[in-house]
Amino acid sequence: MELDPDSLTARDMYQWLIDTIIPRPIAWVSTLSAGGAANLAPFSFFTGVCARPPILMFCPANDRHGRKKDTLLNIEATGEFVINLVPADLAAPMNATAATLPHGDSEFEAFGVAACASTVVRPPRVAQSPVAFECRLNQIVRLSEGPIGGNAVFGQIVRLHLADTVLGAGGRPDPLKIDPVARVGSDAYTRLGKLFHLTRPN
Ligand SMILES: Cc1cc2nc3c(=O)[nH]c(=O)nc-3n(C[C@H](O)[C@H](O)[C@H](O)COP(=O)(O)O)c2cc1C
Repeated sequence: MELDPDSLTARDMYQWLIDTIIPRPIAWVSTLSAGGAANLAPFSFFTGVCARPPILMFCPANDRHGRKKDTLLNIEATGEFVINLVPADLAAPMNATAATLPHGDSEFEAFGVAACASTVVRPPRVAQSPVAFECRLNQIVRLSEGPIGGNAVFGQIVRLHLADTVLGAGGRPDPLKIDPVARVGSDAYTRLGKLFHLTRPN
């Protein structure tokens, strides 16, 4: 089977992408509105892109009306955000926070997600998330306009939080203790399976 993206609708293309780029880690992004209201939403178009300086990227698409999502509006207004990783026991509240609430309403409050203060940036982080990256905006790349158009948000990590409970041998993060949930397709999720190791060639 071969597909020509030019022959597909944006929605179909999106579906092919999310069904094939799997599994995807989830950035649970906390922000503050210009008025100071906390916002929290999940994004699975997410990865790390650079270590010097340390930069993460995630992609809040335009909504189906072509409007910017609250997360993007808040980052444009404040230049700060926190990317919280999602352990399996927070999968349900993470999913709940994908609901569209009126701008300025807090998903932390609406869905009972405990927040705690960040160290460097003003947006709070998710208290129960075992790994969180406090970020300052590096740049936003506006990829396209209109419904399902894309935006890539790059953030420079200014503080990394790791819960002591997820540290293993030698003080390094233990993936099974982080127990991250990953997205597979539209509404399917997975956890880490059996790990295996390969020695890198020189
Ligand atoms: C697991 C998961 C991953 C998601 N990934 C994305 C994504 O990468 N990009 C996106 O625009 N929306 C994504 N969404 C949908 C947003 O979370 C949703 O539109 C949310 O309402 C945005 O919130 P906001 O308006 O407060 O920013 C995802 C939803 C879920 C449940």
